[in-house]
Amino acid sequence: MKRIAILTSGGDAPGMNAAIRAVVRTAIEKDIEVMGVRRGYSGLINGEIFSMDRHSVSDIIQRGGTVLRTARCEEFKTEEGRKKAANVLKVFGIDGLVVLGGDGSFMGAKLLSELGVSTVGLPGTIDNDLAYTEYTIGFDTASNTVLDAINKLRDTSTSHERVSIVEVMGRNCGDIALNAGIAGGAESIIVPEKEFDVNQLCKSILSGRLKGKMHNLILLAEGVGGAEELARHVQEMTGIETRATILGHIQRGGSPTAFDRVLASKLGYKAVEVLMEGRSSRVVGIRDGKVVDLDIKEALAIPRKFDEELYKMAQILS
Ligand code: ADP
Ligand code: F6P
Repeated sequence: MKRIAILTSGGDAPGMNAAIRAVVRTAIEKDIEVMGVRRGYSGLINGEIFSMDRHSVSDIIQRGGTVLRTARCEEFKTEEGRKKAANVLKVFGIDGLVVLGGDGSFMGAKLLSELGVSTVGLPGTIDNDLAYTEYTIGFDTASNTVLDAINKLRDTSTSHERVSIVEVMGRNCGDIALNAGIAGGAESIIVPEKEFDVNQLCKSILSGRLKGKMHNLILLAEGVGGAEELARHVQEMTGIETRATILGHIQRGGSPTAFDRVLASKLGYKAVEVLMEGRSSRVVGIRDGKVVDLDIKEALAIPRKFDEELYKMAQILS
């Protein structure tokens, strides 16, 4: 392995820069040349490739977003597009590709590896929706961003004795809602993995009020539905003033937490080791607290398991 490349793809996530830094510095230490690819698969197809050195990743560990930029690329979903990408890698003399992204990006990496390209996937998404790894890079920072918002909303909700519904990201995964909801002491956490009964929610809001609760904080994962509509419904049914807050892309930004920086560093380091060992079509992640690598196809086939125990605990504590 003489020359590798790295790209970031799909939704950005805090900690991606720390991972890029780890890949670049580990590779250079091992006498491997590193190329950066701008704008994900789209930049790969267009040959937006440049050489990186230790200095090019200085002062980025603390920065959110991705210095390589990211993109969603329809062309890469076609075989023709992927063949173009594989040819570009050949032309640039690149022997291995590190793909930093979520499940969609990994699906792309898997298909690219079927064209003979050595690929390693690094899990970078705030959603935490990759079943093969306990944590994805960015999830912890996003959870803390949501927590910060909850703390602030609690002040105003208490003052007005309102119900506050906070819609958080995660696509079809409820992990951000569950994690931040527990940390923020939310009264209810609504996730796509569990059936949701609006009447039950209103009943618990009303019984909370009878017990003297001054406010209700409800965490709603976006995969369930919209907060505005739910807020209207809850206000109508309970007669209690209800407000919706959609946190949106704020959750994707910001300086990564120590957890995400360390995670990104460990996984970036491991990704280079995997490529050096000549193993292709792999993903790296955390299982039982340890850094591991798995076959990308096997990893993507692992069904997501919702943490029922944690959800039950959240209900008891709320
Ligand atoms: P994420 O990686 O965060 O899940 P997306 O699902 O948007 O984000 O995927 C990012 C990019 O990965 C897509 O724009 C596309 O270029 C590529 N990709 C996604 N799914 C596939 C697929 N089934 N086949 C090939 N490439 C894909
Ligand atoms: O996958 C990350 C994510 O932020 C999801 O939580 C969200 O549903 C989606 O991306 C938003 O995508 P976009 O940036 O295209 O609005």
